[in-house]
Amino acid sequence: MQILTSFEAFQNEALTAISGAKDAEQLESVRVEFLGQKNGRIRELQKLVGQAGPEEKPLVGKRFNEVRTVVTAALEQRLIQVTSASTETKSDFDVTLPGDRPRLGTLHPVTQTIMEFRELMGRFGFTVVEGPELEDEHHNFEALNIPEDHPARDPLDNFYISCAQVTAGSPVLLRSQTSTVQIRTMETSVPPVRIVSLGRVYRPDTIDATQSCMFHQMEGLMVDRHVTMAQLKTVLSLFARSFLGPDVEIRFRPSFFPFTEPSVEVDVKRGDTWMEIGGAGMVDPNVFRAVGYDPEEVSGFAFGLGIERFCMKHYGIDDIRRFYENDLRFLSQF
Ligand code: PHE
Repeated sequence: MQILTSFEAFQNEALTAISGAKDAEQLESVRVEFLGQKNGRIRELQKLVGQAGPEEKPLVGKRFNEVRTVVTAALEQRLIQVTSASTETKSDFDVTLPGDRPRLGTLHPVTQTIMEFRELMGRFGFTVVEGPELEDEHHNFEALNIPEDHPARDPLDNFYISCAQVTAGSPVLLRSQTSTVQIRTMETSVPPVRIVSLGRVYRPDTIDATQSCMFHQMEGLMVDRHVTMAQLKTVLSLFARSFLGPDVEIRFRPSFFPFTEPSVEVDVKRGDTWMEIGGAGMVDPNVFRAVGYDPEEVSGFAFGLGIERFCMKHYGIDDIRRFYENDLRFLSQF
């Protein structure tokens, strides 16, 4: 059939032109010449389909579609060939050069320290629990025996989140201490309790080499019958020695926290310098009452340690800001 011969000729010529095209530009003119909507040679074929008699029409139509598909596919494939060839020559790809080694990351030193603390305290029989970073005033202050007029509640000393307050209906803040988790744990469990909780806390302090407005604490709480201050000292010194080395000494200095009585500041000594690592004390009876424990029945100790402090001492880092700058020269040492 005459028409089909024309189709054949069209297809062969188009394929030859396509494989002869050297780049995307030449390929585009081939496309316009053969498949162009306005004046492409495909238009002639279309006319032939229109002129075909009723019996021939189905076969001719089918063949027309096949030819168009074959030519379009060949164009696309050739386009991929010529464009990838051009980028290869441009990039001067040298197969004899050594390859790029993928760089392995490491865990952040603070994360590593947290993992080690969890493991150590787990060996002393303390369970790890988590608490929220967004807190209400009940858990951050009231239940911890910090009354309404206490300076620690000053809005200038805390990160109150006003948009969260709109949804919650009462003040919401970023927790300023992990002691909040003591309350959450005691509210939902009965004594004996032996937990630690490790996480971020927030205070609007001026950032310098020793303090940051976000840092990490490890809170510890042990409640049972006849828990004593001597046990607190034993647990903390065993912990400090396990982490920093057997020659570490520990000392308590009298202090004040609303939620412990008596309260102490805890210092450790390695070499000949003392370093403060946190606060501790015997849980105040008012705190027990707030969570429904009977202070005549149980006693307990609590401590809150600054994790960065330990981490700095352990690795010999002199500036807390290093932890948060994400400088690879610093981070890749760990
Ligand atoms: N929450 C105290 C602080 O952040 C530390 C602390 C915890 C003190 C538990 C006593 C008992 O400074």
